[in-house]
Amino acid sequence: MQHIYFDEKKKVLKLLDQRYLPSREDWFECAGTEDIVYALQQMVIRGAPAIGVTAAYGCVLAALESGGTSTWEATLEKNLELIEHARPTAANLAWAVRGMQDAWRSKSIFSSEELADFWLQEALSLHQEDIRINKMIGAHGRELLDSGDTVMTHCNAGALATGGYGTALGVVRAAVEQGKEIRVIANETRPFLQGARLTAYELAGDNIPVRVACDNACGLLMQKGLVQKVVVGADRIAANGDTANKIGTYPLAVMAQRHGILFYVAAPFSTFDAKTPSGWYIPIEQRDPGEVKYMAGQMIMPRDVDVYNYAFDVTPQELISGIITEKGVFAPGELA
Ligand code: MRU
Repeated sequence: MQHIYFDEKKKVLKLLDQRYLPSREDWFECAGTEDIVYALQQMVIRGAPAIGVTAAYGCVLAALESGGTSTWEATLEKNLELIEHARPTAANLAWAVRGMQDAWRSKSIFSSEELADFWLQEALSLHQEDIRINKMIGAHGRELLDSGDTVMTHCNAGALATGGYGTALGVVRAAVEQGKEIRVIANETRPFLQGARLTAYELAGDNIPVRVACDNACGLLMQKGLVQKVVVGADRIAANGDTANKIGTYPLAVMAQRHGILFYVAAPFSTFDAKTPSGWYIPIEQRDPGEVKYMAGQMIMPRDVDVYNYAFDVTPQELISGIITEKGVFAPGELA
């Protein structure tokens, strides 16, 4: 599934608009920094590795639009800042923007046009590398699944959340490709419904058996013995292994421990943030209250009542059975 595509002729980035899936397959075009920031903040595209890939292409657009004056480098710096800070929690965002800047510093490039050309090649290879890494995560992770397992997952850590293939769903895909019989329970993931809308859409498209459950059904489903493993993605992994992922992941981990179910995180090293000592220091995004107050355009609670809309929570490392990366499976404390 090619859901991120740079049109070299038109010099625009095309993104499959995840706000409307699965009802409509619309494409959103980004022509410059403002569009990239909008796409990231409004979740046209989301998921930590996909955010990183988009940001890398965003650097190309930022270079193209900052050209033509003697102060293009200052304009570019400002645009890169805007991209880097579009969302606070996913480590891959700053990792990608800084990676592009570091690559530039190692070259003698003196014009914005030249830089845009160079960065386009960098972005294309970062994108391909992300897919390759996901397949390696899948190859390591599939050894942890047994044929007949039902895997519960939260949010969407699939092809749509990455350059392609997926992290948590990459593990499922790789196990299925190996001939294992795997079923998935996709938690619906209030309020943006990434599980119901995106995970179910992706897996059904691949003919992998999937059922959607309300987030608050996880205790019952585990109690009934309907879940053998939990595999989720990550937005930022701190040095001690504490892991930020979509809101609702932490209670899932607590519930998994209560029921003796293995709880795995699947993520590339680009999500690992060695400079953040523990989960306590991970910035947690708070989003528009309207996402909670409305459902399908309908107000579902009294207008003046406040809500909490934290987009992520942190699962303490002691609840994580293993972190599946492109370099193998690690105990959370081993990553650093
Ligand atoms: O707010 P989102 O949809 O960007 O949150 C996404 C998640 O929490 C994913 O699980 C995480 O980014 C891993 S994606 C491979």
